[in-house]
Amino acid sequence: MNCLIKDLGAQVGNEVTLRGWMYNRRSSKTLHFLQLRDGSGVIQGVVVQAEVSPQTWKAAGDATMESSVAVTGLVREDKRAPTGVELSVRDVEVLHQAQEYPIQKKEHGIDYLLDLRHLWLRSTRQRAIMKVRATIIRACRDFLDQDGFTLIDAPIFTPNACEGTTTLFETEYFGSKAYLTQSGQLYMEAAAMALGRVYCFGPTFRAEKSKTRRHLTEFWMVEPEVAFNDWQDNMALQERFVSAMVGRVLAECGPDLKALERDTSKLEKVVAPFPRISYTEAIERLQAAGRPVQWGDDFGAEDETLLSESFDRPLFVYQYPAAIKAFYMKPNPADPRVALCNDLLAPEGYGEVIGAGQRMDDLEMLTAKIQEHGLPMKNFEWFLDLRRYGTVPHSGFGMGIERAVSWICGLQHVREAIPFPRTMYRNTP
Ligand code: 4AD
Ligand code: MG
Repeated sequence: MNCLIKDLGAQVGNEVTLRGWMYNRRSSKTLHFLQLRDGSGVIQGVVVQAEVSPQTWKAAGDATMESSVAVTGLVREDKRAPTGVELSVRDVEVLHQAQEYPIQKKEHGIDYLLDLRHLWLRSTRQRAIMKVRATIIRACRDFLDQDGFTLIDAPIFTPNACEGTTTLFETEYFGSKAYLTQSGQLYMEAAAMALGRVYCFGPTFRAEKSKTRRHLTEFWMVEPEVAFNDWQDNMALQERFVSAMVGRVLAECGPDLKALERDTSKLEKVVAPFPRISYTEAIERLQAAGRPVQWGDDFGAEDETLLSESFDRPLFVYQYPAAIKAFYMKPNPADPRVALCNDLLAPEGYGEVIGAGQRMDDLEMLTAKIQEHGLPMKNFEWFLDLRRYGTVPHSGFGMGIERAVSWICGLQHVREAIPFPRTMYRNTP
């Protein structure tokens, strides 16, 4: 009977066949200890020379690392094994004898591993990251689906620059030009006026020319948008959303977080309420700590790290200067120098995971902003319609999936947080 490794706990005493790959092998004169993996888990298979045919003994000893195999044996309880079981092997069939595998147990350089990303994904660590990533995405979607949101897919080709004109990927579009989307937000604003609570989840693109640990040129974003939410309702939603996401990963990804050696006590602290400080207060804190920042400056990675270090939970920084934020932000009526926006900074120096804000809902002010930012008005006429026909206060946010994965997994760099990373320096494999 074919069986997955993850299901073997229920098969103690039965004979099963596993199909997977030879992950590792230790051998003595009369024993082979096979590490077998099948995508659902890893298990040890013990081959005793005296108990198997000469062919099986030879196949078990000859199979190279990452050869594909079908292994048949008796499932035995083994309290020391992570899965609680091991396999007494009766038969080994090599389905494909792998060539010498280019990734070894030794330390390889990061560029070498990224060149071999298609194989590197097979490693324990990378598999654990992909499991956590999938759980994060599921958690985001489930949270929103259960909270009355409707999923609305935003287009990838767009004539609109949502997040500034310096990071656009431009492409020829049947005689005119289009951009790869930087954010689905503008379309979510339209959909929120139709359905109230909506979100999109998809790939977004930015021609980031900076070489940092946090920037990809292609990344995935989840973007909820809610009619009638103001900027404070928006923060309350982010707080519930992020706590639910971290809670779900803690509940479901224990073995993966362990494989990643993640200090989960830090993640357990991620519960509401999250601290909130204004941009102005953040500047004061940074200046007091000796950072060379002035009111009006955007924060660098080091500033964000310094700010979040005094807190054990994600930190809301709200009301940044309107001048350093996107055109669509609603200014604070009491102090129009600042916008009714917030960033959410992850703890432990992982920096901005969410960008958020209340949107400019006034037709004249929005028109003026689009002009001020030098954006082509004709491409924004449809967006202005939303302010012509029943405009309402509304707010939303975008969370970068790779930033969230990096933080929750404790990664050094976002490039490990996505299956096939794209950066200025890499678009292969
Ligand atoms: O702060 P950003 O630019 O906000 C927006 O795009 C809004 N339109 C979202 C919205 O309100 N609907 O980007 C949102 C998040 C950031 O906080 C960060 O997590 C992630 O997207 N992000 C990136 N992740 C990886 N690589 C990049 N180059 C990223 N740029 C932004
Ligand atoms: Mg941002």
